This record gives sequence, C-alpha cells and structure tokens, in this order.
Amino acid sequence: MTTLADTRREYDFSSLSKKQLNQNPVEQMKLWLDQAKQAEFKDATCMTLSTTDKNGMPDSRIVLLKQIDESGFSWYTNYTSHKGQQLLHNPQACLLFYWRDADRQVKIQGQVEKLSTKEAEEYFHSRPLDSQFSAAASKQSQPIGSRKQLEDKLEQLKKTNANTVDRPESWGGYRLLPESFEFWQGRENRLHDRFTYTKDDSGKWLITRLQP
Ligand SMILES: Cc1cc2nc3c(=O)[nH]c(=O)nc-3n(C[C@H](O)[C@H](O)[C@H](O)COP(=O)(O)O)c2cc1C
Repeated sequence: MTTLADTRREYDFSSLSKKQLNQNPVEQMKLWLDQAKQAEFKDATCMTLSTTDKNGMPDSRIVLLKQIDESGFSWYTNYTSHKGQQLLHNPQACLLFYWRDADRQVKIQGQVEKLSTKEAEEYFHSRPLDSQFSAAASKQSQPIGSRKQLEDKLEQLKKTNANTVDRPESWGGYRLLPESFEFWQGRENRLHDRFTYTKDDSGKWLITRLQP
C-alpha cells in the first residue's frame, strides 16, 4: 500500500493562459461551473466556506452554491449556526471550489451580506417538503442528546403542520461580494497555472499570473 508521502498523481486535464481568461472573473467562474456541471461532476456546486470566530480562529465547512448574480455568490443556511455567528463578528469570508476531475481550484474572497427575507422565503419553499421540515426541526450547530430526540422533534413538527411548514426566522441566505479571485489549473510535473483577479482603484479587474 502506498504511504501518504507516496500518494500523488499527475495533473494533466488542461492548461490555462491569460488569453483564455474572461476579463470578468464572474463570467470565468460561470464558465468553469458550467463545464463542471456539463461533465456531471458529483457535487459540482459544492464550495468550502471559511470564516473566522471572534478569537480569529479559522473555521470551514462545505455549503452549496445556489446563485450567481451581478453582485455575488449565494448559499443558504441557518443564521444561528456557528458560521452565522462567526459572520456576525467578521463578515468576511473565503469560498473555495475544487473540481477534482478537471484539476481545478477557484478561491473567492470578499465581504458577506445577508440575502433578503423575500429571497430566503422563496428559496425555502422551493425545496422538497421533507428538507423544509428537517431545516425547521434543526437548530443547526446546537448540541442534542441523541438521534431519537432529533427525530422526535421532527415528528412533533410534522404533527402540528400538515403539508406546509413555516420558514424559521433563523433560516436564510448569504451573498459573498467578491473582492478577489484565484483560478488554479493543475499542470504536469506540478508546474501549475495560477491567475488572480484583483480590482484597481477605478474598479477594473486586473489579472496577474502567480508562480505555482
Ligand atoms: C455536500 C455538502 C453540502 C452541504 N450543503 C450545505 C448547505 O448548503 N448549507 C448548510 O448550511 N450546510 C450545508 N452542509 C453542512 C455543512 O457543511 C455544515 O455541517 C453545517 O452548515 C454546519 O456548519 P457550522 O456549524 O460551521 O455553521 C453541507 C455539507 C456537505 C458535505
């Protein structure tokens, strides 16, 4: 069996040049996401969301990207969860995408804002009913004694609500307003392609190649 130190593979799916990149990183991101979805990569819309707690300790978890619009990248969650509390203290975050089968990684940093109640309401009720019940029954990130207690809470909720469930006020979404991007394309022999997008004083995106 190979050891951890011996575990490696070549990255030879594709290459990336400045000429290929869209001037607008949001468009470039949409292109890579479309390619990941078209190739039917599992969890193509998964992203690692990193935040920091009030002591500056970093924390990370996966969430699902639900929308890209002119202003940013959105996901849904519970505002009272660990990430929700951390975003209250420090509304800056980092999103990280990794598409293994394309040897691609994208990092996006920026400020985070809450989505509107209307957006949260619409998305909540567009989800399968069972997912709505589960979200309503769970005080995300709070301790609970047993699986049974959780299932009992769900049963109770289902008894009192027939075919509809109200969105808990603590359930909603966030949008990250991008301030910088990095696109990474794995290359042969670890000589990877990396490009950052940062904004100049006039708000124009500048593209810079980084050493791997
Ligand atoms: C594939 C996958 C998708 C997930 N999608 C979400 C999501 O969209 N929203 C969410 O709140 N948690 C999602 N989770 C669960 C989170 O990773 C995390 O456990 C949860 O949000 C609690 O995080 P926190 O305690 O750091 O706030 C997902 C987990 C996985 C593995």
